[in-house]
Amino acid sequence: MTKTRNEITVDLGDRSYPIITKAGLLSEAGDLLEPLVASRRLFIIADQNVYDLHGSQLKQALDKSSFEQVWITVPAGESSKGWSQFTRLCEELLSARIERSDTVIAFGGGVIGDLAGYVAASVLRGVNFVQIPTSLLAQVDSSVGGKTGINTPQGKNLVGAFYQPKAVFIDLSVLETLPNRELLAGYAEVVKYGLIRDYAFFEWLEQKAAEMLGGDLDLLQHAIMRSCEVKAEVVSADEREGGVRGLLNLGHTFGHAYEAEMGYDGRLLHGEAVAIGTRLAAESSVRHGWMERQEATRIEQHFQSLGLNCDFSAYDGTHVTVAALMDHMTRDKKVKGGQSTFVMLSRIGEAFLTKEVDKDMVSTLLSETL
Ligand SMILES: NC(=O)c1ccc[n+]([C@@H]2O[C@H](COP(=O)([O-])OP(=O)(O)OC[C@H]3O[C@@H](n4cnc5c(N)ncnc54)[C@H](O)[C@@H]3O)[C@@H](O)[C@H]2O)c1
Ligand SMILES: [Zn+2]
Repeated sequence: MTKTRNEITVDLGDRSYPIITKAGLLSEAGDLLEPLVASRRLFIIADQNVYDLHGSQLKQALDKSSFEQVWITVPAGESSKGWSQFTRLCEELLSARIERSDTVIAFGGGVIGDLAGYVAASVLRGVNFVQIPTSLLAQVDSSVGGKTGINTPQGKNLVGAFYQPKAVFIDLSVLETLPNRELLAGYAEVVKYGLIRDYAFFEWLEQKAAEMLGGDLDLLQHAIMRSCEVKAEVVSADEREGGVRGLLNLGHTFGHAYEAEMGYDGRLLHGEAVAIGTRLAAESSVRHGWMERQEATRIEQHFQSLGLNCDFSAYDGTHVTVAALMDHMTRDKKVKGGQSTFVMLSRIGEAFLTKEVDKDMVSTLLSETL
């Protein structure tokens, strides 16, 4: 992984790619794309909300560089990340006679990045792909690392492919229109990087996060760069999640279970579920004797101080049962031989993977959240 002031490289040999972060980057997108694309045709798959707010700015920038553009919008929301939009997008690209050397651009949050990425990996067995993430969550997490895919009735992200983009372009200015609840939810993934690998970053966040989430672009630039840097390091070391990449799932085994039970209908956002899951991972680490109580308290206080609720009882989930949550946790993709792998903490800044988790204890912990 290499780094300059606003650029980080994900090192993956001949599939290495840059992550460029800048306020106002959208208006330079044409120039930035020039060296990366083989043909002049771009297929931009855009979230409907993002298209309405920022589409014309990107369109103008691409016009300036004389790109031929085909725009396709997708309704906002997690329910778009499924078979029906996947099929529709593949067929629209094929009907427009997309060629191997053409480029698909994902312009939106994590839903669009995962969906468009899987489409790009699939049509003609793979076309050029570029990410322009517009939510905080997508900018610090989902646009980097090449995991693409869709949800099925059996669960989240169970169908997909590892498919790396040719570049990730992050414009901080678009975050100005991101609803505050989405901003906070994305922030849960930022905290994750501090918790698993970088105590100093967590400390910095404790001091700066409130001001940063208030819209300070310099602080946001630092936090997004540091997050992408940690993600790039981890992905470069373990692209297909044989080991260390698993640490990025801190809070996700628990979180995905709550998300699935709430049905992806917007009542509980992915990042909110991750915050709940992170609190539970910290609490189980304490109860197993792996981490000091004061560390877990500090994590919880940090979330609460920003108004990011990590207590599931704050959400409308009275129908959720322990049995259903446990069932989801044993059906997660990371399950091997029926056993779930958990990410646990030994302190803030240090995480580890283990299967040696006491099921009864986890079940008690879950029941306390309902
Ligand atoms: N591939 C990965 O490695 C990875 C990692 C983490 C999460 N994910 C996936 O990411 C998804 C969640 O992503 P998300 O939180 O970005 O959700 P999202 O894509 O649904 O975006 C959240 C909301 O914000 C809106 N939005 C996005 N950018 C905006 C902007 N600049 N201004 C105004 N509104 C804007 C969208 O319209 C949407 O309503 C989940 O499906 C999750 O599984 C993938
Ligand atoms: Zn996540």
